[in-house]
Amino acid sequence: MEINGDTALVTGGGRGIGRAICTKLASRGLDVVVADIDDDGMAETEAELEAHGVRTLSVHTDVSDEASVRDAVTAAEAEFDAIDVLVNNAGIAGPTKDVEDVTVEEWDATLGVNLRGAFLLSRELMGKMKERGYGRIVNISSASGKRPVPQRSPYTASKSGLLGLTRTLAVEGGPHDVNANAVCPGSVAGPRIDRVIEHEAEARGLSAETVADEKRAKSPRNEFVQPEDVAETVAYLCSTAADRVTGQSLNVSAGKVTY
Ligand SMILES: NC(=O)c1ccc[n+]([C@@H]2O[C@H](COP(=O)([O-])OP(=O)(O)OC[C@H]3O[C@@H](n4cnc5c(N)ncnc54)[C@H](O)[C@@H]3O)[C@@H](O)[C@H]2O)c1
Repeated sequence: MEINGDTALVTGGGRGIGRAICTKLASRGLDVVVADIDDDGMAETEAELEAHGVRTLSVHTDVSDEASVRDAVTAAEAEFDAIDVLVNNAGIAGPTKDVEDVTVEEWDATLGVNLRGAFLLSRELMGKMKERGYGRIVNISSASGKRPVPQRSPYTASKSGLLGLTRTLAVEGGPHDVNANAVCPGSVAGPRIDRVIEHEAEARGLSAETVADEKRAKSPRNEFVQPEDVAETVAYLCSTAADRVTGQSLNVSAGKVTY
């Protein structure tokens, strides 16, 4: 699957799903800008990308901060002519508690990274993509954005909100060949889901194994998704094979969500 464009910017590319996305896009020949708050993680990602012989840049970025996002895009454009592909992947899990116990600070922090972050990056790049007449934006939402998870109201709201943002970007970008789509992963194997399981187990007074089994059983395949499954879907959505796919939210959830 061919990807038009030369350069991708991936937020939260310092580990996990974001790193898998960086690696996948580099394997398809794209130069990659990694934007993350974790400098050590970005260095590890860059080291992994070396094998693909593409150019890379790490930019320390807090996606929830307007000035930081602006600086990151300026730095990226100083190194590469333009950003053709934007993947809004950075995200935090937020608190695990009943909605009546969620603080305003927890709410704002979760929405700040997961939703405002995607808005800030998209706002910074959308106008330029429209001007150049090409762009591909992929927002990493979640199965939780469609099928709510109890005790995760800020996360669920942020991931549902991302679907609304994606659809709006798609209708605004369509006339300019700027496509926007969302990917909704189910539980993805890795350290993050382990942390989520731990917190949920604590909140519900259950063992981590029980919660992990429950989560796996939500998939009719009784399995977790792998980071590479998400990365492959991102690469597809950025490819010429998906030129007429925009405004969609594609579940990569091992069947956990079917709508
Ligand atoms: N892991 C899952 O089960 C799962 C399921 C569905 C959706 N997702 C979504 O996929 C995305 C990636 O998840 P993951 O499992 O790789 O998570 P992760 O916690 O392993 O990695 C997230 C990355 O985002 C970075 N980050 C956090 N806050 C940031 C900020 N303010 N600015 C810039 N970077 C920041 C972190 O440093 C980290 O490198 C997230 O949006 C998450 O909500 C994950």
